Amino acid sequence: MALVSIQSDWYIYFWLLYCKIYSAIVWLFGNHCRGADKVRSVITAGAGVQSSGSIQRARTRRRKAQQHRVKHIVALTRRSSVRRIVMAPGASTAHTMMEDKEKTLHGALGAVSMRTRHISPFAPLLIALVGLPARGKSQLAHRLSRHLNWNGESAKVFDCSEYRRRHMALYGSHDIFRADNQQGSAIRRQSAREAVQDAVHWLKDGNSVAIFDGTNITREQRQDLNSLSEMGFRILFIECVCEDQDLLERNIIEILHYSADYKNMSEDEAVDDLRKKLEHYMRQYEPIDASLENIGFVRVENMGETVTAHKVSGQKESTILGYLSGMRALPQTLYFTRHGESEYNVLGRIGGDAALSARGQMYARALAEHMNGLATREPFSIWTSELRRTKQTAADIRAPKCAIRALNELDAGICEGLTYEEMQERFPQEFAWRDQDKLRYRYPWGESYIDIMTRLRPVLAALEDEHNVIVVGHQAVLRCMLGYFLDAKLDELPYMTVPLHTIVKLTSYGYTYKVEMIKMPVDCVDTHRKQPKNCSITRTTADALVTVPSHYDTLPSNLWQNTTEAQL
Ligand code: F6P
Repeated sequence: MALVSIQSDWYIYFWLLYCKIYSAIVWLFGNHCRGADKVRSVITAGAGVQSSGSIQRARTRRRKAQQHRVKHIVALTRRSSVRRIVMAPGASTAHTMMEDKEKTLHGALGAVSMRTRHISPFAPLLIALVGLPARGKSQLAHRLSRHLNWNGESAKVFDCSEYRRRHMALYGSHDIFRADNQQGSAIRRQSAREAVQDAVHWLKDGNSVAIFDGTNITREQRQDLNSLSEMGFRILFIECVCEDQDLLERNIIEILHYSADYKNMSEDEAVDDLRKKLEHYMRQYEPIDASLENIGFVRVENMGETVTAHKVSGQKESTILGYLSGMRALPQTLYFTRHGESEYNVLGRIGGDAALSARGQMYARALAEHMNGLATREPFSIWTSELRRTKQTAADIRAPKCAIRALNELDAGICEGLTYEEMQERFPQEFAWRDQDKLRYRYPWGESYIDIMTRLRPVLAALEDEHNVIVVGHQAVLRCMLGYFLDAKLDELPYMTVPLHTIVKLTSYGYTYKVEMIKMPVDCVDTHRKQPKNCSITRTTADALVTVPSHYDTLPSNLWQNTTEAQL
């Protein structure tokens, strides 16, 4: 069985082989360097430390134990027998044996520091969350993953509790979290191993960041995770601490609302169960202690109020540290809308700085009426671009306004002011190239979606900590902004549907956002052009224009008469 699993995971096989060769070299080198060790032993002998020979033996033993633990945490997760032990009723004897074996290993290691090995600052990063339940770990994990993906990393969250749920048809009670519940502990350990195994696969597959969302409350668990650095990964622990009672209460309410564990329980039962679960965890919790653990970690207190870092280096880690130190996780409602229909929209022209059409002005009034009604209850602020159409759209909303250049629409360079038909006529190759890769395509002398994403970074960072902001923006810019909050796949961003005359309301919901599309009853053109099937540069004009939305060729003087003004 073991052989079979080794064959199917060839890289682990190579890893074991590498360990063997490495041990042999170390052994040879150790024998060779007795002289150097003697000098060291003279220095250390005065401090009552072991002789050089025993230091060397201790090192080799330690190394072997470390190698064994790496194998243990990765390979053990593959054994289906373990799952059977875990799941079988009355399996406590086998489980105890497994635990004894682990304890011996950890006992042998004690609190020794890991052998420091140079790992490239650009190596894949495994982030492990640490902390009691309801300390905001999952929210942090998902926000961080979203942020990293936006910044060009490929990050994914591996939620330990989801793995646990796969082992249990239905969540029973807090009992599973009791330290002395052997079967419960075995299930939890097995779930953690599976999550870590998948995280390792994710990184091995060429992705850059895996976020292991578990409690990892014991030193032993963290030591095991840290030993994965032997596989060439960088490891960063993020400990979430929460002393703020209001925040804690809010987190607890969120868990009670959104956790799958409590969906079949009455509110009272759920509250009681969660309280007991927390008590079990508190008894087992060993907060990270820098004097006892040789790990790199960031401690985040009260969801970003205070952030401290210890032994944190590396390129991704620095970005993460910057993000965490600016993070505030407050409940949010954000509103996004495109400007009202512009004269250019009516004509099917892109870019420019056109004024609103008659229907666009009607939308501006309808929007103001809607938002002013809400603003009587809560204060709002409005962010617009620096272009006329967004300022005109926001003009009648009673709230402080701020015009931000980074919110300006995609700069179409040499194509500014053209219709899609004119682009095909004048620059058919450019038009086809854009269809081939709309996310990365940059207009000559203009921008790409990736460029907008880059200039939006500071705006998004600021917006993440805001509540009740109305962003009046543009099609491409809002695609990027909504894509960020909704964690959309980057390649899908340029084709997201963000229609005119529609308010998009985002409300934070656990660690995601609930989306509401509020369509105002004012007619407008459609400006969404789907990706055509044929994106080849040799395609016919008909093929290139097949998805171009219909528009007027001249500004109709009676446009407003086509609208549903009577309904307003
Ligand atoms: O058509 C309206 C508009 O905002 C243009 O100004 C802009 O170039 C375009 O949408 C962006 O959409 P797409 O990337 O789909 O061409």
